[in-house]
Amino acid sequence: MEMLRSGPDRHGAIAVSIHWLSAVLIPAMLGSGFRAANAMDAATKAGLLRFHIPA
Ligand code: HEM
Repeated sequence: MEMLRSGPDRHGAIAVSIHWLSAVLIPAMLGSGFRAANAMDAATKAGLLRFHIPA
């Protein structure tokens, strides 16, 4: 069974999951943030911010 916690010589599944989640989410936030900030059209901006802003 794969270990959840990191051990002395390998990262566990929790650390690896957080690592890859961050690797996907940070570029997604940068991309949607800059595109929303530069959007000319209000509907495009609103659509991007629906993804960018939580809740
Ligand atoms: C890791 C990167 C980022 C995170 C976690 C993040 C998070 C957030 C959050 C939580 C809000 C909601 C703020 C509120 O409700 O007042 C927001 C709004 C916004 N963000 Fe980002 N953001 C990131 C990067 C960026 C970048 C790079 C830009 C581009 C300049 C950007 C542009 C915007 C805009 C235009 C809004 C909506 C306007 C406002 O509420 O002031 N964001 N962001």
